[in-house]
Amino acid sequence: MEKIKVKSSKNYEVLIGGGLLGNCGEIIRNTCDGDIAVIVSDDNVYPLYGADLTAELERNGYKVECYIFPHGETSKNTENLVDLLRFLAQRGVSRSDVICTLGGGVTGDFGALAAGLYNRGIKLAAIPTSLLAMVDSSVGGKTGVDLPEGKNLVGMFYQPDVVICDYELLQTLPPEFLSDGMAEVIKYGVIAGKKLFELLENTVDNPASCFDDNTLAEKIIAECISIKRDIVGEDEFDKGCRQLLNFGHTVAHGIEQRSGYTVFHGNAVAAGMVSVSRAYAAMGKCDGEIPDRVESLVKKFGLISELPFTVEELALAAVHDKKRTGESITVVVPEKIGHCVLEKIPVCDIIKYIGVKK
Ligand SMILES: NC(=O)c1ccc[n+]([C@@H]2O[C@H](COP(=O)([O-])OP(=O)(O)OC[C@H]3O[C@@H](n4cnc5c(N)ncnc54)[C@H](O)[C@@H]3O)[C@@H](O)[C@H]2O)c1
Repeated sequence: MEKIKVKSSKNYEVLIGGGLLGNCGEIIRNTCDGDIAVIVSDDNVYPLYGADLTAELERNGYKVECYIFPHGETSKNTENLVDLLRFLAQRGVSRSDVICTLGGGVTGDFGALAAGLYNRGIKLAAIPTSLLAMVDSSVGGKTGVDLPEGKNLVGMFYQPDVVICDYELLQTLPPEFLSDGMAEVIKYGVIAGKKLFELLENTVDNPASCFDDNTLAEKIIAECISIKRDIVGEDEFDKGCRQLLNFGHTVAHGIEQRSGYTVFHGNAVAAGMVSVSRAYAAMGKCDGEIPDRVESLVKKFGLISELPFTVEELALAAVHDKKRTGESITVVVPEKIGHCVLEKIPVCDIIKYIGVKK
């Protein structure tokens, strides 16, 4: 088992290992007092792992309540958020009680926001079950739900008390979501993980082969989380270097929104990373080999590499993106694999930075 300590406004540990779900009641009890544990999960994941988690929590003295919602991005909305907050109030949940999110990034973002808001903040234990949630969304404290006007527009920074990554849970993750999560793994390689990127290029044939092998699974997940830990430790509130994690994301959020969330997050990030790399290479801002290397990994892992919308359409979405500050927007430029820099550009130039016009 790997243990990574995250230092931020709340310090906490991320545990990474096979079979941790079978021991998670004790792990949660070590960091969270309280009488009630509320499992927040979606209708795909709860039937798979909800009973085991409930039994574990009960064994460790919690009264367990379960809030199950329909899976998918469209559930990450303010109506469900209020519904969950009222569920907590109706069950008499207090500030010392704990929310346990069991699921992918949707469950994590949504449940963590409720934990941050309810009673001005209650305990939070995150049990990510998708690859994307393990390597990215469960660590770092970004929470949120979407508005019809845009993604993650309602949210706050709220750090968990503990994160438990049991990679054996990935065995039931549908292959398309395993691929989807690989986009964020590639992203970590580009922004700060040259060795990770080379490992993906040279050792790994397809997403499933990473996670059939426990040693490789632990290594890949731990490497991603370590990169995120370092970045979040330096810039918890996204004022500076944390924006490096947004490589490909301004374009991705536009793709997700314009597609009505039918293009999933990782695929949107993949197409975004390829497209912006091509644009930067054309401007002479990054190593000429980067676009091809990123594209070939993206394709190897079954992700989309072409933008499903025009650069004009995506530029319009980027102008409305919440990452914009006034008349400027910060973009992430990969100078070489493993090293990216931030560049502030005028909003009116965004189209040049999204992709090369066909
Ligand atoms: N907070 C952050 O820092 C951050 C970072 C990146 C992405 N995100 C957010 O994460 C979300 C995407 O996350 P996601 O891809 O995990 O989506 P998701 O939570 O919708 O999970 C994907 C699908 O896989 C299913 N699933 C999850 N784990 C499973 C398992 N072990 N077995 C079987 N089925 C399983 C889910 O039910 C769902 O249908 C987006 O909303 C995105 O905005 C947040």
